[in-house]
Amino acid sequence: MSKRKPMAAALLSLVLAMSVAARAASQPSETLKNLQAAYNGESNAHAKYLEFAKQAEKEGYGRVGSLFRAAAAAEQIHRTCEANVVKEMGATPEARINLPPIKSTEQNLEESANKGEAYERDTMYPRFIRQARKDGSKAAEQCFEWARAAEAEHFKLFKAAAANLGQMTGGPESYYVCKEGGYTMAKLDPAKCPGGKYEEVK
Ligand SMILES: [Fe+2]
Ligand SMILES: [Fe+2]
Repeated sequence: MSKRKPMAAALLSLVLAMSVAARAASQPSETLKNLQAAYNGESNAHAKYLEFAKQAEKEGYGRVGSLFRAAAAAEQIHRTCEANVVKEMGATPEARINLPPIKSTEQNLEESANKGEAYERDTMYPRFIRQARKDGSKAAEQCFEWARAAEAEHFKLFKAAAANLGQMTGGPESYYVCKEGGYTMAKLDPAKCPGGKYEEVK
């Protein structure tokens, strides 16, 4: 038996292992794809809520205007969190803004709650959190956890505003947004914010 065979086999397996590793490195992980999808979603929500705030003010619902601006500030915090992890992974955050048609404030509140926030709270973020755990990305998991908790609150705040629209005139009204994580409150509770740090949005 030739002595060359084991050497050739070892070389072959080394080359195979290297090509597998190269392929793994060049393919974005599931979590990176999820971060990009979340970054795109948060960027769109941020832009959309600023438009909905203007529409609410046009209709005389100044308190809803404040609520949409507070939610927009939270989505901005989420997109920044996700963008930072995308960059840490060596990629560039990418978003394409597609503003939906601006409807009545009541419809804007209902659709934002039932479609956007409920989907993120119940489907998108829970799935992304599970995948981030699988991929061992603590940073991504943290952004997704914070966002999921904030979206749950946005859902409640939008539904309450839609149900009490008659009382949402006037304003502006103060909302409070945690500087880290973007948790959004109608009543201030600094203990809910990492490090007790929050911003007031009107
Ligand atoms: Fe968000
Ligand atoms: Fe939200």
